[in-house]
Amino acid sequence: MGKALDGVRVLDFTHVQSGPSCTQLLAWFGADVIKVERPGIGDITRSQLRDVPNADSLYFTMMNGNKRSIALDTKHAEGKRVLEDLIRVCDVLVENFAPGVLDRMGFPWERIEALNPKIVVASVKGFGPGPFEDCKVYENVAQCTGGAASTTGFRDGIPLVTGAGIGDSGTGIHLAMGILAALFQRTHSGRGQKVLAPMQDAVLNLCRVKMRDQQRLAHGPLTEYSQYGEGIPFGDAVPRAANDSGGGQPGRILKSKGWESDPNAYIYFITQAQVWPNVCTVIGRPEWAGHPDYATPAARLPRLNEIFGAIEDWTMTRTKFEAMEILNRYDIPCGPILSMKELLDDEALYASRTLVRVEHPVRGSYVTVGNPVKLSDNDVAVERAPLLGEHTDEILSQVLGFSAARVAAIKASGATGEQQLAAE
Ligand code: COA
Repeated sequence: MGKALDGVRVLDFTHVQSGPSCTQLLAWFGADVIKVERPGIGDITRSQLRDVPNADSLYFTMMNGNKRSIALDTKHAEGKRVLEDLIRVCDVLVENFAPGVLDRMGFPWERIEALNPKIVVASVKGFGPGPFEDCKVYENVAQCTGGAASTTGFRDGIPLVTGAGIGDSGTGIHLAMGILAALFQRTHSGRGQKVLAPMQDAVLNLCRVKMRDQQRLAHGPLTEYSQYGEGIPFGDAVPRAANDSGGGQPGRILKSKGWESDPNAYIYFITQAQVWPNVCTVIGRPEWAGHPDYATPAARLPRLNEIFGAIEDWTMTRTKFEAMEILNRYDIPCGPILSMKELLDDEALYASRTLVRVEHPVRGSYVTVGNPVKLSDNDVAVERAPLLGEHTDEILSQVLGFSAARVAAIKASGATGEQQLAAE
């Protein structure tokens, strides 16, 4: 088996989460990803949220597997020369600096394109062109400005952010898709291009169903929202809908056995119209299957509280796993609320290599999330993240073809941080 992106070389100028999540995906598809990091410091997440003293954090190691690291001061004259050479030999440059950083460094798009007209330059920014284009942005800012926060939470509570990295990793995935499209187009056009994935836009794309509902609101109340059945009028913006399903099949999170002491003893239950008679059978209400007040989705909408109350009376008599097993026999869509602890112990996820345990020379072994996308002809083993500058020599000599004397001169210039380290 081969590697899907064999032969693609990526200059990874990313940091924190959004950019690194993109380049890690490219690495898992087989690209050679060269991470350029500031000497002595590296990606700031190496030292953020540290759990093991002096070891690269899980924040860093779980976002930067399968990459090589070169320490290079790209504000240093010699460092800039090396960066130019790297641009010449790479197919893609990925960056998620604050707006203007690359320009200040002396590498605006025009210069990069002049150095290598075939290179794809891919950027994450907080916002696209407009009033906020110069702003710095982190995950939760994107969740708030992309529509996720205003539509997440309880109707009578404050807006909520989700723990899922939809602003960072969500944008990283969008960017990776743009890069692959640009690489494909290059096979016809022979040219590179700019790829931009603004975080606000990526979150909005993921909130498409809420934008759908905003427009539906002009034509009447959103009948599948619980508040409709509760007789609570809608305002002029899509409300927070707690755990209501975002689709046409009503669903809720319901208590299961043990909920009093286990914060994750819950199950998501969907009253899919196709299997309504099965739902009635399982919960012991066979009379509801043909009753005019319950038999059709439209008839059920004003009665969702009563219906889900009756279903919960049943789910509370089973553990979430028992309920899952029974409901699946009846083809009823449902899902236990799984904690991170339960997921970390899930053997099936290790068997599919979505979870992988790797060895790290400083922090010991750790579990990382492997490639969630499976290609039948892409065989890339998940590897640990590199130490800062671990591959500096190898990249200078093997990728750029520099002689030993040239490598020594670059290091002596201070561009790779060796002098700084020696001084410390
Ligand atoms: N050598 C020398 N300098 C380097 C370097 C290297 N190898 N790599 C980075 N730097 C410098 C840059 O030149 C820049 O310096 P400058 O401000 O003097 O021009 C600085 O390090 C990094 O700048 P910046 O991107 O502004 O970092 P920050 O920590 O202040 O801001 C973010 C972090 C995430 C808020 C910001 O990068 C951002 O908004 N990015 C776009 C949106 C994004 O991706 N957000 C999500 C992150 S998960």
